[in-house]
Amino acid sequence: MKPHARIGYSLGLISAVFLLFWFFTENAQPWHAPGPANPGHAGFSCGDCHKYAPGTMRQQLTSNVRYALGLRTSPVDFVHARVDNQTCTNCHQNPRDQHPVDRFLEPRFADLRRTLAVDQCITCHQEHTGRRVNVEPTFCRSCHQHVRLKNDPLTEPHHVLIASGKWSSCLRCHPYHGGHGWEVPTDNNQMIDAEVLLRYLTDGPSPWSNSSMENGVRE
Ligand code: HEC
Ligand code: HEC
Ligand code: HEC
Ligand code: HEC
Ligand code: HEC
Repeated sequence: MKPHARIGYSLGLISAVFLLFWFFTENAQPWHAPGPANPGHAGFSCGDCHKYAPGTMRQQLTSNVRYALGLRTSPVDFVHARVDNQTCTNCHQNPRDQHPVDRFLEPRFADLRRTLAVDQCITCHQEHTGRRVNVEPTFCRSCHQHVRLKNDPLTEPHHVLIASGKWSSCLRCHPYHGGHGWEVPTDNNQMIDAEVLLRYLTDGPSPWSNSSMENGVRE
C-alpha cells in the first residue's frame, strides 16, 4: 500500500471503531454507572460529577484520531470529561486538611505522583465501588518512614511502631485529613479498634464524632 493510502485506510478504520463505540454507548443503551455509589453519594444525579468534555464530538474524534496516528502528543476526553479534584472540592472543603492534594504538586513528590497519584482525590476515593476509601490503611509508609518525636508521648513510641512495621496502627490514631473533632490518643490502648476502622473505610459508621469536611449541599 502507498503511504497515503495506508493513512486513509487507518483513518477510516479508526473512525468506524469510534462511531460504533459512540453509537452503542450514546444511542443504543442508557449510560450505566460501572458500580454501586460510594457511601454518601447514593441518589446523586450523574451530572453532579460528570460534565461534558470541551469541544464538539467531531473535534474530540478528530483529535483522538490524530493522536492514534501519532500527529498529536496526547488524547482528549471523549464525550465526558474526567472527574477532577475540583468536582470533589466543589462539595467537600477542608481548609484544615492535614494532607491537602495541592501540597503534593511540589517537585519533591514527583515520584509519588507517578506511583501513588497522591495529588488526586480519586486515587483513594475511587467512585462506583461502594466504598469510602480504596487504599490499604498502611499507605502512610510511603512518606513517613522517619517519624521520630523528641519527647514521644506514646506508650509504644513512633520509631518502635515503625521499626516493627505496624503501619496499620497509624490511621487508628490519626485521621488522614485530620480533624473530626478527635483528640489523638497518646495511649496505645486507646487506638480505634482495627475492625471498626476497616468497616468505616468500607461503608460502616464513623469511629469519629463528626466530619472534618464542610460537605456541600446539592442544589
Ligand atoms: C460523586 C461523583 C460521581 C457521581 C454522582 C457519578 N459518578 Fe461516574 N464516575 C465518577 C468518578 C470519579 C469516575 C472515575 C473517573 C472518571 O472516569 O472520570 C467515574 C466513572 C464513571 C464511568 C466510567 C468512565 C470511564 O471512562 O471508565 C461511568 C460509565 C460512569 N462513571 C457513569 C456514571 C453514571 C451513569 C452516573 C449516574 C447514575 C454516575 N457515573 C454518577 C464519579 C461520579
Ligand atoms: C454534589 C456534591 C458532592 C460531590 C460532587 C461529591 N461529594 Fe462526596 N459527599 C457529598 C455528601 C453530601 C456526602 C455525605 C456527607 C456525609 O455523609 O456526611 C458525601 C460523602 C463523601 C464521602 C464519605 C464521607 C463520610 O463521612 O461518610 C467521601 C469520602 C466523599 N464524599 C468523597 C468525594 C470525592 C472524592 C468526590 C469527587 C470524586 C466527591 N465526594 C464528590 C457530596 C458530594
Ligand atoms: C492518599 C489518600 C487520600 C487522598 C488523595 C484523599 N483522601 Fe480523603 N480520605 C482518605 C482516608 C484514608 C480517609 C479516612 C480517614 C479520614 O477520615 O481522614 C479519608 C476520608 C475522607 C472523607 C471523610 C472524612 C471527612 O474528613 O469528612 C472525605 C469527605 C474525603 N476523604 C474527601 C477527600 C477529597 C475531596 C479529596 C481530594 C481533595 C481526598 N479526600 C483525597 C484518603 C485520601
Ligand atoms: C504522599 C506523602 C504522605 C502520605 C502518603 C502520608 N503523609 Fe502524613 N504528611 C505528609 C507531609 C508532607 C506532611 C507535612 C509534614 C511537614 O510539614 O513537614 C504530613 C504530616 C502528617 C502529620 C502531622 C500533621 C500536623 O500538622 O501536625 C501526621 C500526624 C501525618 N502526616 C500522618 C499520616 C498518616 C497517619 C498517614 C497515613 C494514613 C499519612 N500521614 C500519609 C506526607 C504524607
Ligand atoms: C496511639 C496513637 C498513635 C499512633 C498509633 C500513631 N501516632 Fe502519630 N502521633 C500521636 C500523637 C499523640 C502525636 C503527637 C501529638 C500530635 O501531633 O497530635 C503524634 C504525632 C505524629 C506526627 C507529627 C510529628 C511531628 O513532628 O509533629 C506524625 C507525622 C505522626 N504522628 C505519624 C504517625 C505514623 C506514620 C504512625 C504509624 C506508624 C503513627 N503516627 C502512629 C499518636 C499516634
